[in-house]
This record gives sequence, C-alpha cells and structure tokens, in this order.
Amino acid sequence: MNPITLLQPQRIVFGNGCAPQCAEFLTGLGVKRVLIVSSTPVIPTLREVIDALKNAGVEAVFAPPVDREPTRGMFEAVLPIVNQRGVDAVLGIGGGSAIDVAKLVAALSGGTQSVGEVFGINLLRQRRLPLVCIPTTAGTGAEVSPNAILLDEADELKKGVVSPHLVPDAAYVDPLLTVSVPPAVTAATGLDALTHCIEAYANKFAHPIVDTYALQGMRLISANLVKAVRNGADLEARAALALGSLYGGLCLGPVNTAAVHALAYPLGGRFHVAHGVSNALLLPHVLRFNFSAAPQRYADVAAALGVMRNGSDLHAAEEGVELLSRLSRDCGVPQKLSDFKIPRDAIPAMAGAAMKVTRLLKNNLRPLTEADAIQIYEAAY
Ligand SMILES: NC(=O)c1ccc[n+]([C@@H]2O[C@H](COP(=O)([O-])OP(=O)(O)OC[C@H]3O[C@@H](n4cnc5c(N)ncnc54)[C@H](O)[C@@H]3O)[C@@H](O)[C@H]2O)c1
Ligand SMILES: [Fe+2]
Repeated sequence: MNPITLLQPQRIVFGNGCAPQCAEFLTGLGVKRVLIVSSTPVIPTLREVIDALKNAGVEAVFAPPVDREPTRGMFEAVLPIVNQRGVDAVLGIGGGSAIDVAKLVAALSGGTQSVGEVFGINLLRQRRLPLVCIPTTAGTGAEVSPNAILLDEADELKKGVVSPHLVPDAAYVDPLLTVSVPPAVTAATGLDALTHCIEAYANKFAHPIVDTYALQGMRLISANLVKAVRNGADLEARAALALGSLYGGLCLGPVNTAAVHALAYPLGGRFHVAHGVSNALLLPHVLRFNFSAAPQRYADVAAALGVMRNGSDLHAAEEGVELLSRLSRDCGVPQKLSDFKIPRDAIPAMAGAAMKVTRLLKNNLRPLTEADAIQIYEAAY
C-alpha cells in the first residue's frame, strides 16, 4: 500500500446551526479583528455569525464581495485591506470563490511572495494569518482542501495554488447556510463535489483511506442532488450534500482530481462556464476515455452511484456514466459545449491549455495526449 499523508483542519465542525461557533474558535486564538471574505447573496444569511463575533468581541471587517469565480485582479484588490485595517485573521464564508480568495489573502498578506510566484505545488512558504472557512455551497470542499484557484486573466487559464499552508485552521460546515443556494448553483456545485469523489477514487494515486470518503461522497450526492435541486428547503438532502461535499474536499488534498478537472479549466478560463458545469459537461466523456485503464474502479463508481451490478465491469462502468448523464440532465444542466456558444474552432486552443494543467493530468489513470483532449472536447461538443 502506498504511503499517504492526510493534512486536515485541526477542527472540522459539521451540523445544522454550527457556523456561529467559529467566533469561539477565533477568540481562542486571540483574534480581535477578522476580515470576512464572502459574496453578496450570502451576506444577508450571516446574521447569527456576525452576532456571535460581536458578542465575542471580534470586530468584523468586510472585504469587497467575491461574486464570481475569482481572478488574480479580484484577489489583488482584497489583499491590501489586511494591512489597511489591521486585521489579524481571515474568515472565508461562501462558495469556493470566496473561500479561495480568503485562503490566499491569509497566506500572502504582508508576505514576501506574490501570487504569481506560488501557482503550482508546494511553492507557498507560509501562511501569515489564522484562517477559518465556512462553505455555503456543497460544493468545492475548499474549506478543508490545500488548494485555491484563480483565473489568470493574462493567459485566460485557471491556475491553482496547492500547499499545506492553505489548509484552514478550522472548517465549520453548516448545511443550513446552503438552503438559499438557487437550483442551478445547487446542481453545478453538487456535480463538482461528485466529480471530486469520482476522480479521487479512479485516480493513479488512489488510496484506501481516501476511497472511503470518495465512495460515501458519491452515494450521498447521487441519492440527494435532484431532491435538493427540486426542493431547496429539503434539509435532509441539503445535509447529505454538505457531507458529500466535505468528503469530496477531504479527497482533494491527499489524492486530488484528474483529467475531468484539467479539461474543464479552459471552459472556465476562456468562456466563463461555471466550474461545476464545466466538469459535468466533460465527465461522461473523460470517464469513457479512462474506462479501459481500470474497469473495476469504474464499476465500483457505478455501484456507488446506485447502478445494480449485472454483467461485466465495463458494462457496469457504462451504466454508471449513463446514470451520471441522466443525473446532470435531471438537474437541468446543459449537456453539450455547443449549448454555451463555444465556437468549435476553439477546441484546439482549449486542448493546448488543458495540457498545461499537468498537476492534475499526472493523476489520470490513462495517459492523455493533446490529440485525446481534442477528441474528448469533440465528443462533448
Ligand atoms: N479550493 C478548492 O479546493 C476548490 C475546489 C474546487 C473548485 N474550486 C473553485 O471554486 C470556485 C467555484 O466555487 P463554487 O462552485 O462554490 O461557486 P461560487 O463560489 O462561485 O458560487 C456560485 C454562486 O452562488 C452564490 N452563492 C454561494 N453561496 C450561496 C448561498 N448560500 N446562497 C445563495 N447564493 C450563494 C455565489 O455568490 C455565486 O454567485 C471556482 O473558482 C473553482 O475553480 C476550488
Ligand atoms: Fe472542482
């Protein structure tokens, strides 16, 4: 069995209504003034968190809201606030977009490295400020992962910073904060979390510890996503998705994702397709490309998604992919690249950009060439 290192927040709290407990954690660290990085639709839902901070004597300073997937420029606009306002901790409350900005601000404020210097794996030397994260989508799992993603506008590519210093000190996963997520965002974010689990289970560096999270995440999300999309007030479905998303996030550090995410990044970088939707569009096509490398793993994925095993591994794997396509359709997610007005002649450039995401492609079960990437985009078109 391969050795594996698990790096997780020192405190992970899960449960309805747990978010305000973050105030107690921050005061325990001696924090006096916290920078809150959030997004516009989330701020009105934070009354109880703000009250808890106030009662604990922690002053809240709000960063400009992160209302779309963050660019380098958006991050660089938030960074100076730390020194201007003298904050001594960062609280990211939102989807992956707000949380990723919070993580990088906590790491890079007042430091000696610029964000351009830390894109990649293990290039970040330290994190200067305490960091607490509270997800309001289910979701990226960014509240527990060592990753943060920014769009580098200069080359229209989403770039990742991966570092143990980006693992937050504490994560509070409160499913009640996800009740206000609109159906389309519930669908996209849920499919992202599901993709984290699938890509970590069917991965060159898969590991039995992470398999446990991944399989349980797949079961929870597959059984509950359509319910939450159709009825956002279904608290059981919301809690199941929040848990599935947390499991997906716990897969990201030790194993991480693979070619689905690598090929999805150019859709976000150049055409601003939401992260979860980009993954959903490519998922069936990349999985079919990968089947031959590990039919048994994809048959296990199918079983976790709810397929009744009957026939060969390859047969089960194909049924799993059909179930995924149905799930995504039932959630109202468009199925083709052409649905997003992406010109067909952009495919070669997208394939070229995807090939640069080597930090994820190296995890893919089957080696993937630029010509393969073109074929996959064509199949998804
Ligand atoms: N750091 C990681 O480990 C990691 C993993 C996967 C993806 N990501 C990145 O995260 C970003 C995507 O994050 P996301 O999918 O969570 O979406 P998001 O953060 O962009 O949020 C999507 C939309 O939902 C809104 N929203 C969020 N919570 C809400 C709530 N409770 N009620 C109402 N509206 C709400 C946001 O304001 C936004 O408009 C991408 O940039 C992606 O690359 C990061
Ligand atoms: Fe993702």
